[in-house]
Amino acid sequence: MTLHKLLVYLFVLKSSWLLISAKVFKQGKDADVVYKWTKLDFKWLHTGDKQNAIRNGTFIVENNIITGIKVYSGRIFVTVPRWRPGVPTTLNEVMNSSDDRAILNPFPSWDMQKIGDCGAFQYVQSMEIDPNTGHMWIIDTGSARGGTTQCNAKIVIYDLKSNYIIRKHSFLDSVVSKDTNFLNDIVIDYVNGMPRFAYISDTGKVPKIVVYDYENDESYFFNHKSMYPENGYMTIISNGKQRNFTTPIDGIAMSPDFQYVYYCALADLNLYRIPTEVLRERGNFSQSYQYVGRKSSPTDGMTFSQQGLYVGALTADMVFKESLESLQGGSINLTEAPLFPRPMETLEWVDTFCIDEDGNLWFVANSLVCFFTYTMRFKNTENANMRIWKVNIGEQGYLWRNTNMASRHQIYYHILILMILMIKFSIVS
Ligand SMILES: *[C@@H]1O[C@H](CO)[C@@H](O)[C@H](O)[C@H]1NC(C)=O
Ligand SMILES: *[C@@H]1O[C@H](CO)[C@@H](O)[C@H](O)[C@H]1NC(C)=O
Ligand SMILES: *[C@@H]1O[C@H](CO)[C@@H](O)[C@H](O)[C@H]1NC(C)=O
Ligand SMILES: *[C@@H]1O[C@H](CO)[C@@H](O)[C@H](O)[C@H]1NC(C)=O
Ligand SMILES: *[C@@H]1O[C@H](CO)[C@@H](O)[C@H](O)[C@H]1NC(C)=O
Repeated sequence: MTLHKLLVYLFVLKSSWLLISAKVFKQGKDADVVYKWTKLDFKWLHTGDKQNAIRNGTFIVENNIITGIKVYSGRIFVTVPRWRPGVPTTLNEVMNSSDDRAILNPFPSWDMQKIGDCGAFQYVQSMEIDPNTGHMWIIDTGSARGGTTQCNAKIVIYDLKSNYIIRKHSFLDSVVSKDTNFLNDIVIDYVNGMPRFAYISDTGKVPKIVVYDYENDESYFFNHKSMYPENGYMTIISNGKQRNFTTPIDGIAMSPDFQYVYYCALADLNLYRIPTEVLRERGNFSQSYQYVGRKSSPTDGMTFSQQGLYVGALTADMVFKESLESLQGGSINLTEAPLFPRPMETLEWVDTFCIDEDGNLWFVANSLVCFFTYTMRFKNTENANMRIWKVNIGEQGYLWRNTNMASRHQIYYHILILMILMIKFSIVS
């Protein structure tokens, strides 16, 4: 083989590799159901606890659904909102029971779920896991429906590697209202290579973006008209079922360059963004916020990978991807490419997303319209009310900054090519 032939060979090999990978992406991979439930069950401490809890009202089966999800190092964490009484635990890890059912194990313990104990979690809607540090940033609204105690809302940072709480910050009532907050979703902001700020959507009576400054252990907030639904309410039809929502700011997402936080009200189609500079430096929000574009469907959760924004389209029962390039324009209708072919099972109310370290996008679909209208079917075990889905997107989440990893892949790739060439040579000669 001459040098020329070798180069041509290398070129063909490399471009065919690119072609194959492009084709796989374009066709779209299938989304798979990883877990599904008609109703939830927990890992009880003692036999008899479950029956007692049902009897004394601390466990009301039909008031329990999953909303938030984060996956780290093969572990799946989910939240169960305490919107109604009878929710025994609010933050959990999915595990298999001895009889092979998927059940929820209170995280980090049953003790941390005690209603009325302000040191424990009262009602957690969401959390974020930083894959670079293994720290889980947990937001607690501070009060459970059906409980009598109202605690201050708080943020708790938990180290998943060494299993201890490294930070607990109680929000002042003047920053996050004890009575009316609904801390809903959280993103982390890196400054100079370090996790420095958290931005939290407060879907409560006064809609807010709450800022937590980790370095100074301080918090403050912004309230702005773009956080409210433009028309006051929106009728959302999900999988044929409808309900009017007045929900303000809900989904938020951090761009992978840490320049912007994207946000939108749930009962609205407008997508906005605010430069992180303004949030970090307590700048002028109304002077700096930007209208990005109009979505075709309202959305609940959303998240950025390194390459694009993923949103759950509630009225389309689908997940859309918006490329980074298309988000640069302003005042546009977004392109909203469906991420995968329509699956066999329903995608009723795509709630929350996360991206694991292996390039999988995970999300929860939980039929929320049915939950709010008391029409979920908990008796019919053929019918799943909640599902955890997974689709491989081959992209890292917005927080992924481990550049060593990327170069390691490059090295593997070149070693592979060398090996193929060596085999080829040995066959030729
Ligand atoms: C209800 O039962 C559970 C499970 O046995 C127990 O842990 C809890 O303390 C009981 N609560 C009340 C209010 O009786
Ligand atoms: C539970 O069991 C299923 C099927 O055996 C397996 O795929 C899954 O990884 C298990 N989940 C956990 C959290 O161990
Ligand atoms: C939503 O509100 C509108 C206006 O008040 C009303 O006409 C409509 O019937 C409501 N829809 C539902 C599903 O409640
Ligand atoms: C922020 O900007 C708006 C719009 O330009 C202006 O009306 C307002 O006075 C500014 N607020 C502060 C505190 O500077
Ligand atoms: C954007 O979508 C809205 C609603 O479907 C439509 O009325 C409008 O014409 C669209 N605008 C553009 C620029 O395509």
